[in-house]
Amino acid sequence: MATAASKDASNRLELDIRPLTPVIGAEIHGVDLASPGITEQVPAIRAALLEYGVVFFRDQTLTQEQHIAFARHFGDLEIHPATPRKQPNREVLRIVHGPESRGSENAWHSDVTWREEPSLGSILLAREVPDVGGDTLFANMHAAYERLSPEMKRWCEGLTAVHDIARVFAKRLGKSVDELHEQYPPMRHPVIRTHPETGKRAIYVNTGFTSHIEGLADAESRWLLDRLYATASNPEVQCRFRWREGSMAFWDNRLTQHFAASDYYPARRAMDRVTIAGDRPFFDPEN
Ligand SMILES: [Fe+2]
Repeated sequence: MATAASKDASNRLELDIRPLTPVIGAEIHGVDLASPGITEQVPAIRAALLEYGVVFFRDQTLTQEQHIAFARHFGDLEIHPATPRKQPNREVLRIVHGPESRGSENAWHSDVTWREEPSLGSILLAREVPDVGGDTLFANMHAAYERLSPEMKRWCEGLTAVHDIARVFAKRLGKSVDELHEQYPPMRHPVIRTHPETGKRAIYVNTGFTSHIEGLADAESRWLLDRLYATASNPEVQCRFRWREGSMAFWDNRLTQHFAASDYYPARRAMDRVTIAGDRPFFDPEN
């Protein structure tokens, strides 16, 4: 049975944390993210996020407003260009699939890497889930980086990749590439980024948004990207989360990538995502 968060001898709030694997992911039990008292637990949740890369909560009953309020504890919020203009609570990105639309988030990626300052993290709340299927897989891209050979690390650390919103969203938003680029020009980010809070290095290219690596021939860029993408597919750097209604996942976009299994068609799956603004990725050669 889940126990409530307790206080240790120093009166610091301790969470009931249960890791999913030794490498990534933990469930946090005994917290009600909708309660006003959650403010007290925010520092411990933030520390758990940094330690595990993604944290999960069960049986949460947040309204969209409470979801937004919880996310605001961790930073400013983003509004995604795919959010309808007239929607109330525009900080919430609704991701719904069912008989009319097959799930399309089934590629390894980190969210919004096409931004100049890609997000710190995303908080996803399950509103409606299939009886079976629709799991989300997460990969620790620091663990993936650590598995590269020293020579490969050295090569990648000097490289810059281009991230392009149009690769995914031109078709989805019904806009031309030029139109999208006016607002969101392609962005250059280091292939290996240093985490701004933990100092850990992580592979920071992804199948969704990365178009190419600068300075390489097309075939070389494609080859190297495929090599780096493949690192997320190693089950030893992953965890897999099975959703229930009211389950929540909070992941660090600077460290992790995710893959939403699209195996539930034509069942319905409806999720609400709130996304926390981040900072500009950098590589620190000294750290
Ligand atoms: Fe995503």
